[in-house]
Amino acid sequence: MNIELAQRLARLRTTLDEHQIDVALIGPSADFRYLTCRRAGESERLIALIVPQAGDCTLLVPELEAPKFADCAFCQLHRWRDGDDPIDLLARTLLDLGAKTVGVNDEFRAGFLLPLQERLSGRRFTRVGPLLARLRITKSPAELALLREAIARVDAAWARFCAEGRLVGHTERQVARQLSDFLLEEGLEAVAFCIVASGPNAASPHHEPGDRIIQDGDPVVIDIGGPYQGYYADMTRTPVAGTLRDSDFAAAYEAVLEAQQAAFAAMRPGVACEEIDRIARDVLATHGLAEAFTHRLGHGLGLSVHEPPYLVGGNREPLRPGMVVTDEPGVYLPGRWGVRIEDVVVITEDGAERLTRSPHEFLELP
Ligand code: GLY
Ligand code: MN
Ligand code: MN
Repeated sequence: MNIELAQRLARLRTTLDEHQIDVALIGPSADFRYLTCRRAGESERLIALIVPQAGDCTLLVPELEAPKFADCAFCQLHRWRDGDDPIDLLARTLLDLGAKTVGVNDEFRAGFLLPLQERLSGRRFTRVGPLLARLRITKSPAELALLREAIARVDAAWARFCAEGRLVGHTERQVARQLSDFLLEEGLEAVAFCIVASGPNAASPHHEPGDRIIQDGDPVVIDIGGPYQGYYADMTRTPVAGTLRDSDFAAAYEAVLEAQQAAFAAMRPGVACEEIDRIARDVLATHGLAEAFTHRLGHGLGLSVHEPPYLVGGNREPLRPGMVVTDEPGVYLPGRWGVRIEDVVVITEDGAERLTRSPHEFLELP
């Protein structure tokens, strides 16, 4: 087993001990990938990683998935076949381990957990997800290298789109398909999201691309990303299709960029997450746009697209070296348009480094 994986398991075991949790029960998720370096597809068939405070891990897998985990040396494989009762197998495994308190990760399905709780009444079940999130919140050099790769691939796909892509006269869906092709051709393992939101649709921050034909003069919010070896890139740019006509949009674009850069300039260890969010919000307020910024400034990024730390009002957690966050203020005017500019940033020992390299300047694309 590689050293980093062993360190992750050791840190989880120390955390379980500190919180008097006997075993962690992990379903297919980013937590699962963090602790095994393997992907398990979320499924109606039970897959569960069981990490006790001491001793080997157990991996419950359906027989047809087992070959993928055969080389998982630190896990005892417990296979089950279609027609077996995997909840019974899981309950017996936990009983054999003498587990009195079971820490369950957030993605472990209710459809498995509720019958398990019935079978093991008298045992305590608690959330282990927030504890795992603490372990994952700062990135190791190896994780940072993968994040840099993912982000560089999105930068490359965006550069191609800026050179070759077309907006005017194409539907949002057609543009999303072309962008998705570029992302995959540049080496992302999947396209996790590809928001193309044009004209009034751009006022919906997480718009699903549809059949609207993009018009000359439309602002287009484009938010793209996906994983590279499990680690996610996430970037938004808001070009204008053809030629800009609305000077209010140009002013809002400059305000969003100013907010984004003010937030970046303030990022360094020790500054509270909520303070970074507030700085961006204050900039937009000076332009009369505070009400139009309808979401948090940013989120952590790693094996999940959205994970702690969240740059949001009320989060007093201080930034620390190795945290990776997005910086993504936006302004959304229902019925008119929206603008968002999003980069990924890593907190360093004495400040912050922008990992996204794509330019920010206002852009008109044909
Ligand atoms: N795209 C902004 C957020 O979900 O936080
Ligand atoms: Mn984001
Ligand atoms: Mn995004």
